[in-house]
Amino acid sequence: MQNQTLTQKFKKIQTPFYFYDIELLKKTAQTAIAEANKYGYKIHYALKANSNHKILKILNNIGFGADCVSANEIIRAVECGFNPKHIAYAGVGKTDREINAALDFEIFTFNCESLPEIENINKLAAAKGKTADIAIRINPNVDAHTHEYITTGLEENKFGISEWQFAEVVEKIKSLTNINLISLHFHIGSQITDMKVFEALCGRVKEIQEIFESFGIKFPHLNVGGGLGIDYQNPDTNPIVDFKSYFEIFNKNLNLYNYQKLHFELGRAIVAQCGSLITQVVYVKHGRQKSFVIVDGGMSDLIRPALYHAYHKIENLTSAKDKKSYDIVGPICESSDCFAKDEMINEAQRGDILAIRSAGAYGEVMASQYNLRELPKAYYSDEI
Ligand code: LLP
Repeated sequence: MQNQTLTQKFKKIQTPFYFYDIELLKKTAQTAIAEANKYGYKIHYALKANSNHKILKILNNIGFGADCVSANEIIRAVECGFNPKHIAYAGVGKTDREINAALDFEIFTFNCESLPEIENINKLAAAKGKTADIAIRINPNVDAHTHEYITTGLEENKFGISEWQFAEVVEKIKSLTNINLISLHFHIGSQITDMKVFEALCGRVKEIQEIFESFGIKFPHLNVGGGLGIDYQNPDTNPIVDFKSYFEIFNKNLNLYNYQKLHFELGRAIVAQCGSLITQVVYVKHGRQKSFVIVDGGMSDLIRPALYHAYHKIENLTSAKDKKSYDIVGPICESSDCFAKDEMINEAQRGDILAIRSAGAYGEVMASQYNLRELPKAYYSDEI
């Protein structure tokens, strides 16, 4: 990301802030859509990864549907131009207010996570004289081999409906008049880099579909969620995920019926690499064992390292000196407010501008005002 003109521009903006490379965003999004289109697959962009208006408008124009997890996300998606007919709505705790809002928008599907939720959607739809299209979110018991906080498809996780509950759920659904079961939904975790995990998922999708067929149920739609991981170590050599191989796996391992459409809910793989948190060195502090670079960005701006021990590559954009090892830490009163330990960056001094890379997904959206700090602002490559 070393670019003198850009660094000069960054110096004029109050740090910390998020910077988005719009050209890379568009290229990534267009590649994903082109690869999915080869097989007629539909990608619903997961707003939870980044819900900036500008980013959403671009993704809507390129042809994504939306995957939302709150009524506010649905409202944001619609504001940014997404057609409600292409909005999937997931979440274990949808409230009545949220369900009613989604019913009014007549969205594509409610991805349902429990029997009480299905009964409630039926009741609320009946009160409006509507029929809601639903998907059953399956807990497929597939290990995503990722961080425990972002694994979702194991029986011990709170998400989805497990195999032992299928008969009861089908029985109940058959008696409900205001819902229409149109899809199965799966999502097993996030930042999945081992492609074999998606092959295993395809195997489970087939098995589970057969169980439902034995109950006389056929699905016009299947939704396999998101989860495709990115290369946090090498954002410059691997800026765009291998979407070609990813969709090929589903094409090879999942034989769809001619009446079926396959849906995806990718978040991170679309937006992570286009975003960086730009921050400034406040002090360099030399200890006996190590040196600390103290920056003005903190865990309130980007919580991933503190919460998941996530690695984000850090670059010193100002200095051309030899690399040295530092712990790069924020100003917040918590030891976990640390972006990287023993990271090699160009020798730093007060005032240097650093870029914390691959922060476009689950960065700005997870920011807080802890320590009464200001929320980070966003700037875009085509506007500064
Ligand atoms: N669909 C569902 C039902 C989900 O729960 C998620 C993410 C996605 C799609 C999008 O997954 P993606 O393609 O982005 O992996 N904050 C964590 C990630 C949490 C992911 C939650 N669910 C992080 O910073 O790593």
